Amino acid sequence: MLKVEHIRKSFGKNVVLRDISFSLKKGEVLSIIGSSGSGKTTLLRCLNFLETPQHGKVSVGGETVFDSEDESSRKESEIRKHRLHFGLVFQNFNLFPQYTVIDNIILAPTLMAKEQLRQHGFCKGADNMKQAQRMIRETAETLLQKVGLSEKSDAYPGSLSGGQQQRVAIARALAMEPDILCFDEPTSALDPELTGEVLQVIRGLKNTETTMIVVTHEIGFARDVADRIIFMDDGLIEEEGTPQQVIDNPHSARTREFLARFKQFGD
Ligand SMILES: Nc1ncnc2c1ncn2[C@@H]1O[C@H](COP(=O)(O)OP(=O)(O)O)[C@@H](O)[C@H]1O
Ligand SMILES: [Mg+2]
Repeated sequence: MLKVEHIRKSFGKNVVLRDISFSLKKGEVLSIIGSSGSGKTTLLRCLNFLETPQHGKVSVGGETVFDSEDESSRKESEIRKHRLHFGLVFQNFNLFPQYTVIDNIILAPTLMAKEQLRQHGFCKGADNMKQAQRMIRETAETLLQKVGLSEKSDAYPGSLSGGQQQRVAIARALAMEPDILCFDEPTSALDPELTGEVLQVIRGLKNTETTMIVVTHEIGFARDVADRIIFMDDGLIEEEGTPQQVIDNPHSARTREFLARFKQFGD
């Protein structure tokens, strides 16, 4: 589903990603752990085209979506097309405060439908905007139900708890039907009592075979939900393997040192 090859990214003289390569199968959940500053967010931002790596290649389902050697893959029109492969749930939710919950979810799909109707005359079984809008709203309502927030459809983000806002952000990302859904420390901005509801939603997505990359400092959760774990250190993959390998029997001294800072991995 995803192949990442030799990604390098620096900001000025600061080399943040040195040489990152990994791959991901359809329906697999990859968890990325590592100290603050190791480059986890930058990696997700590169995959989501919010940053441009200086070097490397990214392919999705066999199709090259970014290649530093190929000028044309950096064109804005190409990037816009390929951005749809990825969804990103941010640390701080990033909902639009001036829109209701349901409008946050339908905004991007509506813009996309408009564009597709203009270009091709149809989009996903709809051949006019009214029909498309009805389908988009139905999907949004189903997604809200899935994250347990049907009753908050017309509320504004400011009136929701952090956990609720993050669940809306997950529904919003799912509405674009990405091939790969990325989470950047989805619970790190939440009070401890609100993390459970968000982790529960992510766990639920695993059961629906959603391909996911979850950056998290919740080691117990990572061990639970991930098929594979990458430990990143200083812009490199220091260790990679199953949760049993990386968390329970780490080979690298750096991984052990990192894990020792988390006294307990239990839920
Ligand atoms: N837009 C940016 N401009 C300059 N430096 C950045 C930028 N984004 C991230 N960095 C730097 O990249 C390094 C890694 O950051 P980040 O990817 O956020 O790590 P992590 O998510 O693992 O904590 C840090 O040293 C940070 O200062
Ligand atoms: Mg980060």
